[in-house]
Amino acid sequence: MKKIKRIAISTGGGDCPGLNAVIRAFTRAATSVYGWEVVGIPDAFGGLLRDKPELIPLTRDSIRGILPQGGTIIGTSNRADPFKFPVQQADGSWINEDRSALLIQRLRDYEIDALAMVGGDGSMRIAKRLSDLGVDIVGVPKTIDNDLYATDMTFGHDSACNIAMEAIDRLHTTAYSHHRVMICEVMGRDAGWLALHSGISGGADVILIPEIPYSIEHIVQRLDERRINGRNFSIIVAAEGAKAIDGEVVTQGQGHDAPRYGGIAYKLEAQLKNRISQEVRSVVLGHLQRGGSPTHFDRVLGSRYGEYATQLIANGQFGHIAALRNGEIVPVSLAEATQKIKLIEPENSQLVNTARRMGISFGD
Ligand code: F6P
Repeated sequence: MKKIKRIAISTGGGDCPGLNAVIRAFTRAATSVYGWEVVGIPDAFGGLLRDKPELIPLTRDSIRGILPQGGTIIGTSNRADPFKFPVQQADGSWINEDRSALLIQRLRDYEIDALAMVGGDGSMRIAKRLSDLGVDIVGVPKTIDNDLYATDMTFGHDSACNIAMEAIDRLHTTAYSHHRVMICEVMGRDAGWLALHSGISGGADVILIPEIPYSIEHIVQRLDERRINGRNFSIIVAAEGAKAIDGEVVTQGQGHDAPRYGGIAYKLEAQLKNRISQEVRSVVLGHLQRGGSPTHFDRVLGSRYGEYATQLIANGQFGHIAALRNGEIVPVSLAEATQKIKLIEPENSQLVNTARRMGISFGD
């Protein structure tokens, strides 16, 4: 097996609580168990693809105190895909260049023997392509959306659920005092895990998720039932990717390589206004859900993933990610991990069934 001396870690895609817990555990295990040198690649792969490459030395000293910090000390980006790296032209326009060969060359130039990529679905797809090109790479599954297929839970999700839950608790205050319907929009492009978990834990009356298209009439019916039964306020939690049976996802224009989602809460507010007697107000939580200190769960899970990534490297299990399955961290191949994303299956979901039996409406 190849002798490892120097390894790198990079964090890609949207930030979330727990990234620093991964970086810390990875660095601690790599340096103290194996005696390897560790470097961070700034801003996903951006740090190695710029004209002047940069690396961040990660040592026991440089990672001190980062465990409770949100974000990532090495920076992240969702615009650093080496296979379509955005490059600005003289006229100010942008084109995408394939810089994967440059990345592989730079990994050699900087004597990086192995690499851990921490990220969501997009980052794992990049890792898979690099692995296919012969890069010794392992993955760590991150995203507040919890939609990575290979793992029971991504880190970051629990913290985001707690932030959303607390926001929903606070919205209850205004909802019951003013006898209003309050709509809380949470993130979740294709998968409704964040809406489902925060909605149940926050006591929502209606939860709208991408996997269950809704009808406005069914939502109105549920709100009216509550009012008739003496509950003159209601809480609706909607995932940004929720859509009506015959409708489209609400977007805010185009992002770098995908539409930016958001605004379903305002659309619902407008649709409900003339259909129900109570006032309606809406709140979009947006990036608040990705901010701040990780929960104890994400600190533990992030630490487990970070440490396990060093074991994958030591065992030569490249092309694998650290995944949580039935309470244990296990290796899962990048090929399997990137097959599809993990959606809620409403017909088979015990949790959806529990929610329905508690009287929560999914608008269907
Ligand atoms: O993938 C996580 C996520 O939080 C999505 O739910 C959301 O649509 C997206 O990131 C927003 O990312 P950005 O930081 O580009 O606005």
